[in-house]
Amino acid sequence: MKKILVATEKPFAPAAVAKIKEVVDGAGYEFLLLEKYTDQAELLKAVADVDAMIIRSDKANKDVLDAAKNLKIIVRAGAGYDNIDLAAATDNGVVAMNTPGQNSNAVAELAIGMMVFLARGKFNGKSGTELRGKSLGIHAYGNVGKYVADIAKGFGMEIFAYDPFIDSKVMTDNGVVPVNSPEELYESCQYISLHIPATEKTKKSIGFEILNKMPKNAVLVNTARKEVIDEEGLLKMFADRDDFKYISDIAPECAAEIEEKYPGRFFFTPKKMGAQTSEANINAGIASARQIVNFFEKGDTTFQVNK
Ligand code: 3PG
Repeated sequence: MKKILVATEKPFAPAAVAKIKEVVDGAGYEFLLLEKYTDQAELLKAVADVDAMIIRSDKANKDVLDAAKNLKIIVRAGAGYDNIDLAAATDNGVVAMNTPGQNSNAVAELAIGMMVFLARGKFNGKSGTELRGKSLGIHAYGNVGKYVADIAKGFGMEIFAYDPFIDSKVMTDNGVVPVNSPEELYESCQYISLHIPATEKTKKSIGFEILNKMPKNAVLVNTARKEVIDEEGLLKMFADRDDFKYISDIAPECAAEIEEKYPGRFFFTPKKMGAQTSEANINAGIASARQIVNFFEKGDTTFQVNK
């Protein structure tokens, strides 16, 4: 009997776990669960004889993949797969997949929710500002970017986007103004919402030079990855521009300095919260389980990311 492990340091909602189990049971496979592990040794032990595994932001590095001697497929229940060592997966003959789009609405709602939260002074009882009529630049117009645009339209924001991989007609059809470069986007927008993946090319790519192009009362919203920020540049931006604010789904490495020097100008979630809704967990969890069943039963490799 095939063994399917769900290994999540940050657990799915219980309803999502139940639905994943239903799909796994339905296929006649064995369901295994490792949640809230605190030590990589627990993960290494749990993966020893599994055929497939579902993870979230859990690190599937070479050690984990080497320890999983029977592993054929690993599915990242979510969009970003920068936590999987793809080269090690490929070397070990393991198919790696993600579940694009399944948790995008949750991330988009958090991005807009945090914007409102900060615009209203974190609900401190003092007079704040509104989003209506403000310019919003969406940096990468993928699944999350599109949801952010849809929600922001309801708020009456003026929306721009930059994405060299998406036909600009997709943006114009959605009432979004496409721009030709990141520089143009940052120059045009008071709010920038980041949706770029963390790759060798994008890591540390958002620094002082580009941020400083933003107009007065600039707000950077990061529900992508903290790694895409050049933190030296971020600190310089905080120091040079007292109008600048930063919202991030999980704190940057330099959080302590920002907290000490720039109170009121930031908000950081305590844990990565973007996809942390029951709905997103259910969508991404079920998709992961179905992708595993379809892979074993039909050889379906749609959504493979290590081709
Ligand atoms: C993603 O890439 O899908 C999000 O960052 C969600 O990550 P999480 O599953 O760890 O919440």
